[in-house]
Amino acid sequence: MPVITCIDDLKKIHERRAPRMFFDYCESGSWTEQTFRENVTDYDKIRLRQRVAVDMTGRSQKTQIIGTDATMPVALSPVGMTGMQHADGEILAARAAGKFGVPYTLSTMSICSIEDVAENTEKPFWFQLYTMKDMDYTKRLIERAKAANCSALVITLDLQILGQRHKDLKNGLSAPPELTPKSIANLATKWAWGLEMLQTKRRHFGNIVGHAKGVTDTSSLSSWTTEQFDPTLDWGKVAKLMEMWGGKVILKGILDVEDAKRAAELEPDAIVVSNHGGRQLDGALSSIRMLRPIVDAVGHKTDVHIDSGIRSGQDVLKALAMGAKAAHIGRAYIYGLGAMGEAGVKTALEVIQKELDISMALCGRQTIDQIDPSITLIPEDFEGRWHTT
Ligand code: GLV
Repeated sequence: MPVITCIDDLKKIHERRAPRMFFDYCESGSWTEQTFRENVTDYDKIRLRQRVAVDMTGRSQKTQIIGTDATMPVALSPVGMTGMQHADGEILAARAAGKFGVPYTLSTMSICSIEDVAENTEKPFWFQLYTMKDMDYTKRLIERAKAANCSALVITLDLQILGQRHKDLKNGLSAPPELTPKSIANLATKWAWGLEMLQTKRRHFGNIVGHAKGVTDTSSLSSWTTEQFDPTLDWGKVAKLMEMWGGKVILKGILDVEDAKRAAELEPDAIVVSNHGGRQLDGALSSIRMLRPIVDAVGHKTDVHIDSGIRSGQDVLKALAMGAKAAHIGRAYIYGLGAMGEAGVKTALEVIQKELDISMALCGRQTIDQIDPSITLIPEDFEGRWHTT
């Protein structure tokens, strides 16, 4: 059993274990990957303020996320094709999150279906919705999520068309993998992954196959998005989706103050400052740079969460100090899943909690509600002086 000390250790094992096309799918940004890289490197520009001689007993990371108790202010983001990183991936990740006590978000583009995850896990999970041209299908997705007792609907606003990730095109990404000389050569080196995959029936997009009509290629994320996603999605439609759902809602994919204000008018339970992990608009600012302006504008009206670039408990702490009520992690837990299934997701969560706990303590804080902006040192020009004209 390898000694895992940080998220990067899990990433290295994930890379060795999973087929190249799925590791690359996880580890890609769009076009030049500038935003993908800066999501991570911008966290390094923020420093933490060391404080001493503060009683460190009675520490806790417990909090509430959209009104529900959580072990720490971290949620698992929706990640497409999670069940290709490891057999039954969505079920395993949801189980790990449930046992740990943090929310799990199931993607519309999952391999395990909504019903399958609900039947095979104990805790309610959040469902992430992509809106489709076929309104009946979108309505059915919402009804299915209600029937599965999902505890929040996460509406993604930044992916009505798919940003280009070069590696996915070059690798011929599909679920299940199409057998070509290149993919066979790679799969032949991934026997542990292959053996587990042979033992599961879950190898297709479970929310689509058998549920959506008129799909020409059910194995390709890119042809599905091009053909099916609704390019007319606007704020009026978002309001209608929220009404159809009728429960807790999180609006995900906000990176601009004006959009944050429009979103807050709809009174969601939270918004997520996000650039989709740098996978959509290459050249956009990192999420952490946009956090403070958005919190300043709408933090009094709605909870502001953040994703994109979080790889450690220190990153979570910085985001909380800058006003986020929760940090959503995607790649950080997918590395764990790809490395060692449910145990790897648990390990990823433990690593982050330990880092958060010790960093909080060394900043002189015992509880989440004591975290405030004064524990960070932020460069004066961190947000930058950008001109729109
Ligand atoms: C889908 O959500 C993707 O980013 O690939």
